[in-house]
Amino acid sequence: MSGFSQDFQNDLLDLMRWRRDVRRFRPDPVDEALLQECLATFQLAPSVGLSEPWRVIHVQSDSARAAALANFKAANQQALEGYSGEKASLYSGLKLSGMQESPVQLAIYCDDSTAKGAGLGAGTMPETRRYSVVGAITHFWLAARARGLGVGWVSILDPAQLDHDLAIPEGWSLVAYLCVGWPETDNDTPELELAGWETRQTDLIIETR
Ligand SMILES: Cc1cc2nc3c(=O)[nH]c(=O)nc-3n(C[C@H](O)[C@H](O)[C@H](O)COP(=O)(O)O)c2cc1C
Repeated sequence: MSGFSQDFQNDLLDLMRWRRDVRRFRPDPVDEALLQECLATFQLAPSVGLSEPWRVIHVQSDSARAAALANFKAANQQALEGYSGEKASLYSGLKLSGMQESPVQLAIYCDDSTAKGAGLGAGTMPETRRYSVVGAITHFWLAARARGLGVGWVSILDPAQLDHDLAIPEGWSLVAYLCVGWPETDNDTPELELAGWETRQTDLIIETR
C-alpha cells in the first residue's frame, strides 16, 4: 500500500482535530465488543524493542472505583492549594475528571521490568517503555473518538495510592487513568481553552541546528 486517499487523509485530520479530552459523559453504557475493538488498537502501536509494555486494568468494582475517585479528589484538593488568586478561583471551577460518571475506567500501566524485547532500545533510555505506552494510548483515543466515544486522561492522582488500591504488581508504573464513555457534547476546542485556563499555540516552533 502506498499512501491513503485524499478523503481518508482529510477524515484523519478531522478525527485529530475533533479528538477532545472528555470530562463530561452521558451515563449510557459502552458495549463490551466496542470497547474491545478500541483496545485492540494498542497492539498496533509502536513500542521500544517491540516490548509492548502496556498493561490495561479495567477498573470495574465499586470498591476500586470509589478508591480511585477518593484518590482524585484528594490530589485535586492538594493541587488547588498550590494556586492562589485568580488562578485558584479558575482552577476550582474546572471539571478535571469524569470519574464520577464515566461508565468505563481504565488504569493504564507500563511494565518497566518486562523481558519482552530483551531491552533493545531501552538500555540508555528505559523511559522509552513508558513513551511506548503513551503512543498506544493515542491509538486507543483516536479509535474511540472515531466510534463516537470520548476519552479523558486523568493524571491528578497519587500513583502509589492507586497501585496499592488496585493491587498492582511490582515493577509496573502508572501512565494514565482513562475515563471512557459517550460524551455529552462535541467540540473542536479544548475545554481548558474554553474555560480561559490556557490557549493552543498557533504555530509549531521548529528550530534548526
Ligand atoms: C498526560 C496527560 C495528562 C492529563 N491529565 C489531565 C487531568 O488530570 N485532568 C484533565 O481534566 N485533563 C487532563 N489531560 C487533558 C489535557 O488537559 C488536554 O489534553 C488539553 O487541555 C488539550 O485538550 P484536548 O485534549 O481536548 O485537545 C491530560 C492530558 C495528558 C496528555
